[in-house]
Amino acid sequence: MYFNKMMAGIGVCSLGLASSAVFSADFNMRLSHGDNESNPTHHAAVKFQELVQEYSEGRIDVSIYPSNQLGDEQEVAQSMRMGTIESAIVYTGNLVPLAPSAGVLMLPYAFTSSEEAWAAMDALQEPLNERISNEAGVRAVGLLEKGFRVLTTSDKPVRTLDDLQGQNIRVSPNKIAIDTFSAWGIEPTPMAWAEVFSALQQGVIDGQENPYTTAISSNFYEVQDYITEIHYMMWTGPLLVSERFYQGLPEDLQAAINRAGIEAANYERELSARLTEEAKDELVELGMELLGPPEDEAEWQEKARAIWPEFYADIGGEEWALEAQRIMQEAIENQ
Ligand code: MLT
Repeated sequence: MYFNKMMAGIGVCSLGLASSAVFSADFNMRLSHGDNESNPTHHAAVKFQELVQEYSEGRIDVSIYPSNQLGDEQEVAQSMRMGTIESAIVYTGNLVPLAPSAGVLMLPYAFTSSEEAWAAMDALQEPLNERISNEAGVRAVGLLEKGFRVLTTSDKPVRTLDDLQGQNIRVSPNKIAIDTFSAWGIEPTPMAWAEVFSALQQGVIDGQENPYTTAISSNFYEVQDYITEIHYMMWTGPLLVSERFYQGLPEDLQAAINRAGIEAANYERELSARLTEEAKDELVELGMELLGPPEDEAEWQEKARAIWPEFYADIGGEEWALEAQRIMQEAIENQ
């Protein structure tokens, strides 16, 4: 506990945040994420921080570490299993290598709108938690969504599958993203998130895929020219708490964290819908060309959907994959 408090104190001071509560709180949580402070992920982190402090009546203090300060998303997810980092927001694609069952949220073209994703995620949260807790020693106290992932490229606009050929596209290091791009005819480059901007800048890769808001917050408009709205997958990401840390809390503080997690996720979902629209306008002003969906979108969809069953073994097995699809479909129909 002392070490935990001391580390949180150092982090809070180095970020220049108010530190008065740190040494009086009973528990300190470091919350890591991979985006900078203008990204919706960070807004969710700040909301969670405020709500945890409110609902725990100051007994839990949360200090936030944006921009991969505590390590890349996959390293941080590992550290949470050990209990050496208490919480993080991690893109599902970066969690899947540790917690395969979360991959059900990534089946390409599973959602056609944010509303569908919200309904599906809410219905899935409890059964998913049981599984990822066993797989990776983490629990999702909220499930965030930042809109569809869109493709950015530099010199060459991608309007069709033919245009994609020969492009070196970075994807998050997980099988679903890699195999989906393979189904579209290219071998993508899996790469840690923290390395993407400089790889784009140096021309090591030609493009990447992430939500519109990330193209703004990560300054991709400086090194990318075009956006194709492939929207094959949503950016979903759990607000994770280390199971070891969570189990060490009294019940009333566990309840405070659960409540804060759900409310922070709801806040972020609404906010990112608005910020996505603003980001599109801003990206055009900053010189990017928005190409809309691919002209041959049906073909992209058909090729990606055809390989769903190939993912089942890597996302927790066929039984879970089908059960999760049933839960999500039912929630979407009843929304
Ligand atoms: C990724 O592409 O690795 C993630 O979408 C980055 C993020 O967490 O925003």
